[in-house]
Amino acid sequence: MLKGILHFAHYLLEESIDEGEVVIDATCGNGNDTLFLSRVVGKSGHVYAFDIQQQAIQNTKQELEKYHRENVTLIHGSHSLIDDNVQQDVIGGAIFNLGYLPRSDKSIITKPDSTIEAIQKILAKLKKDGLIVIVVYYGHDGGANEKEAVLKHVANLDQKLYNVLQYGFVNQKNNPPFILAIQKR
Ligand SMILES: C[S@@+](CC[C@H](N)C(=O)[O-])C[C@H]1O[C@@H](n2cnc3c(N)ncnc32)[C@H](O)[C@@H]1O
Repeated sequence: MLKGILHFAHYLLEESIDEGEVVIDATCGNGNDTLFLSRVVGKSGHVYAFDIQQQAIQNTKQELEKYHRENVTLIHGSHSLIDDNVQQDVIGGAIFNLGYLPRSDKSIITKPDSTIEAIQKILAKLKKDGLIVIVVYYGHDGGANEKEAVLKHVANLDQKLYNVLQYGFVNQKNNPPFILAIQKR
C-alpha cells in the first residue's frame, strides 16, 4: 500500500531514529509531530521543538502534558536559531511542516530564508544515515514561493553527501502536500 503523506513522514523518521537520540521538530504547531518524536526517542532521548507563535507553543505544551511526556524542550523562537538552543553535536533526525498553523492566522507562515538556514544548520549536525523530513504545504499565499526555493535548494545538495527524495501524489487536486526527505550519507 502507498502510505499517505503524514504516515510516510512518520514511517521515515521511525525507521531512522533510535531511542535515546536528540531530535528536532522545527515547526511544532499543534504538537502532533512533537508528541510522535517524544515517543520514538523515549525517556533517554530528547526533542527540541520550535515555533514562532506562542499559541503553537501553548498547544504543544498541552498535548505533551496530556500524555505525560517530559523529554521535550519547547522553544518559542525561529528554527533558524537552532545553534543557540541545541548544544548537542549530533542530531538523530528532524521534521519540518511548512506553512501556517491550522485553524489560526494564515499570514504567519514559514519563510524560505529561515527554512533553508535551519535545514543547513541541522544537516551540519545530522548523524550519518539520519533524515530531515520536510512536509511541504504550499496552497496558501507565499507557499508556492517557499516550495520553489526549498525544492531548488535541496535539489542542489551534493549527491555525494546526501540522498534527496521527493514523495507525493501527482494526481491529487488543490496543491496536495508532498515530502522532501534528505538523508546524510
Ligand atoms: C504547518 S504548521 C506545523 C504543524 C505541526 N507540525 C503539527 O503537528 O500541528 C507550521 C508552523 O510553523 C510555524 N513557523 C513559521 N515560521 C517558523 C520559524 N521560522 N520557526 C519555527 N516555526 C515557524 C508556524 O507558526 C506554524 O505553527
